Amino acid sequence: MAKLTVRDINVKDKKVLIRVDFNVPIHGGVITDDNRIQAALPTIKYVIENGGKAILFSHLGRIKEESDKKKNSLDIVAKRLEELLGKEVTFVPETRGTLLENAINNLKSGEVLMFENTRFEDLDGKKESKNDPELGKYWASLGDVFVNDAFGTAHRAHASNVGISDNIDVAVAGFLLEKEIKFIGGTLENPERPFVAILGGAKVSDKIEVINNLLKVADTVLIGGGMAFTFYKAMGYEIGKSLLEEDKVELAKELLEKANGKIVLGSDVTTGKAFSNDTEVNVREVDSILKDEMGLDIGPKSIKEFSEIIKNAKTVVWNGPMGVFEMSNFAKGTIGVAKAIADNKDHLTSIVGGGDSAAAVIEFGLEDGFSHISTGGGASLEYLEGKELPGIVAVKDK
Ligand code: 3PG
Repeated sequence: MAKLTVRDINVKDKKVLIRVDFNVPIHGGVITDDNRIQAALPTIKYVIENGGKAILFSHLGRIKEESDKKKNSLDIVAKRLEELLGKEVTFVPETRGTLLENAINNLKSGEVLMFENTRFEDLDGKKESKNDPELGKYWASLGDVFVNDAFGTAHRAHASNVGISDNIDVAVAGFLLEKEIKFIGGTLENPERPFVAILGGAKVSDKIEVINNLLKVADTVLIGGGMAFTFYKAMGYEIGKSLLEEDKVELAKELLEKANGKIVLGSDVTTGKAFSNDTEVNVREVDSILKDEMGLDIGPKSIKEFSEIIKNAKTVVWNGPMGVFEMSNFAKGTIGVAKAIADNKDHLTSIVGGGDSAAAVIEFGLEDGFSHISTGGGASLEYLEGKELPGIVAVKDK
């Protein structure tokens, strides 16, 4: 269902509450990936260029005790936003109260304010995360209209997304949320075929619902990464010391049966004797993995097989790396798949789900070869599972 967006409302001279997902990785006081901040810029710029007063807020990390507050303050994020926007961002280190209310009331059209981490409210009875009715109502009272642009948080029903939407007359999507709905939701509803899903990552258990849902809509489901070994086991191969979810072998058998040839696994793997980049590296056919080895990446033949299938596709959705790409000796599979997608960008609609595979694409410098890199981790996974996301449901339909 298409959603009303910020384009459909009048923001001039309005106090525009904008929920963004600025839950970005920060190490040693430095933001190591600002993709989520960059992705929210179109909405923020639209609001200020059209004379709105932009009031931004986000969560950052999880706040369980007082000492979590210091490392999860949004002040450094506000500074980064200021650099990216090339415009002053007034940061208010509060989530409620007179200081915040006065700052909002003093805001002029075209100006930007950001307030503190919404999860600071979790210290007092998990008010944000449990969607406390009073909190959603209070935050809604601070603005005239609400724009939800936090796709990364859309799988959560929290006070700062669903709570506000439920307590304000105008709740619409921002451009990022619109884009994620268009690419992920639109592809699942009506993909151009052949539609190939590529799934990886460590565990089958994390992806059961995604596999089930994609088997319904995709023409082929390529499986790599650690989770492939539970499938190889289900096919009767010896997998040595590779990652295995013993209690999921039966399920893997059922999925293979149900898939009726749609699930494709590679014919070789790259192995190591230990989980280390310095270990002895070998390439094995899947029926020749040695007892003292573990598969840590798909092999060169598998890369070719997967690349051929990708080349003939019109739509590709990818979630989860093909191997332990953080170790250079086991990154070739993930790089190979990323390249195969990027090389065919002219005729391919390609979406990479958030989390590790999105980080890998950015790390390899291949983002221009993709139609859409999702900003959602858990959110994109739940969306691919075919679930309705509460943050999306809560904003108004067209
Ligand atoms: C994410 O990074 O996936 C989102 O920001 C949601 O964060 P959460 O898992 O802490 O709710």
